[in-house]
Amino acid sequence: PSARLIVDHDFIISELDRRIFGTFVEHMGRCVYTGIFEPGHPTADEQGFRQDVAELTRELGTTIVRYPGGNFLSGYNWEDGVGPVEKRPRRLDLAWFSTETNAFGTNEFIDWSRKVGVEPMFGVNLGTRDHDEARRFIEYCNHPGGTELSELRKSHGYEKPHDIKFWCLGNEMDGPWQIGAKTAGEYGRIAHETAKVMRWVDPSIELAACGSSNRDMATYARWEYEVLDHCFDYVDFISLHTYFQNPHDSTEEFLGNIELLEAFIREVVAIADAVAATRRSPKRIMLSLDEWNVWYKARTHEHLRKPGWPEHPPLIEEVYNTEDALLVGGALITLLNNADRVKCACIAQLVNIIGPIMTEPGGAAWRQTIFHPFALTARHAHGRVLRSLISSPSYAGKTAPEIPYLHACVTEDETTGQVTIFALNRHLGEPMDLEVLLRGFGGNRQVVEALQIHHPNMKAVNTKDAQDTVAPAPIEKVSLEGDRLQARLMPGSWNVIVTA
Ligand code: AHR
Repeated sequence: PSARLIVDHDFIISELDRRIFGTFVEHMGRCVYTGIFEPGHPTADEQGFRQDVAELTRELGTTIVRYPGGNFLSGYNWEDGVGPVEKRPRRLDLAWFSTETNAFGTNEFIDWSRKVGVEPMFGVNLGTRDHDEARRFIEYCNHPGGTELSELRKSHGYEKPHDIKFWCLGNEMDGPWQIGAKTAGEYGRIAHETAKVMRWVDPSIELAACGSSNRDMATYARWEYEVLDHCFDYVDFISLHTYFQNPHDSTEEFLGNIELLEAFIREVVAIADAVAATRRSPKRIMLSLDEWNVWYKARTHEHLRKPGWPEHPPLIEEVYNTEDALLVGGALITLLNNADRVKCACIAQLVNIIGPIMTEPGGAAWRQTIFHPFALTARHAHGRVLRSLISSPSYAGKTAPEIPYLHACVTEDETTGQVTIFALNRHLGEPMDLEVLLRGFGGNRQVVEALQIHHPNMKAVNTKDAQDTVAPAPIEKVSLEGDRLQARLMPGSWNVIVTA
């Protein structure tokens, strides 16, 4: 097919909040243990942080990392994970039916995040605990000194406050699987009180209330409304979680599912703004898509639980293929096009657990297919997102009656002058002739980089022994003359074209 995109320098959606390039580290399976942290690994530093994983995390370009859960959060006592390691308790983790050793905790995560160069994003446990625990925890983390809890932090070797800015008020509190699940009314009240006292301890923080666990929850939409109706005045964000699935084992349908994310975002924005309207409030609640990814292959009971309360067993180690990489790239385009309201997003998770990075205990670390579109987008999407006017033929899917073959967005970095086009060709049988009109950016522009993610086999994967089966490669046909860019996009491909 042929498709056309018009973009104008002056038509801006929003400045980009680079916290949309977040990831997630949960105490689950091998994400922490033998993922980011493995004392004795050949690359481990003096704190046991795997440097091969740290290096890949930097290359991934993630900006903010959510911790420590997930479902794990709802049974977690932060006190278990601070202070001398030899005194830390071993506990049953009822989220994942594992034994938690607590060898890694808050302070280790802060050290890891500083070393890797990412912002920490923390959750407070609203499953088994409440606003009292949350106020104590933030005092431990963020209060400069002179109180029992801030002095306790200092006695643990952390003189300066951790200064954690972004906090999640619990996790998936609507889910029956959650330890201490709540009704919207119960959660809305506790979220309000927790947010209030946490802000009183540190007014500089940002807070996210839990939205629904996913868009298919029976209470979806009513949950968001009722929760925000309680805590609107004290929170900045409402969270969204979504895991893409491929129920028809059809690449076309699967890539069409990206449209569901657009619908999800619009609906949650509408609900948040409806709550604002009842208060005649100009305040706008922003969206934090703080868990998202492809996850459907490693979802059975055996993937979620191992018998015998093991320590860090391998759980949900989804192996990603070509079509998963295309979907992740396409979902990032949707996030960028909604940059006015989506100000934070965390692909879940970082390593081993449904992650862009895989490791072997004691051995190698490598990039899964989904690593590449994420890393390329994080590297090249800077500045602001511009409005793209797209004309493209469409196909009909089960997800939506009209799914345009072209899914695209454009960013402009005024500091470097770079204008970057991200484009997914959802046509699986034919290349796409794409024409982009770049209006108002000045002449003498050139293509400085043009890369694609493409593989003729949609089920191709990267493994320890074949790590680069699906990896970025140059786009062969791309040209720019004046304000007219032309490119031939391979069938079933995700592409990034950087001009300057
Ligand atoms: O990311 C895996 C799990 O998925 C998280 O712990 C939970 O929040 C979600 O249901």
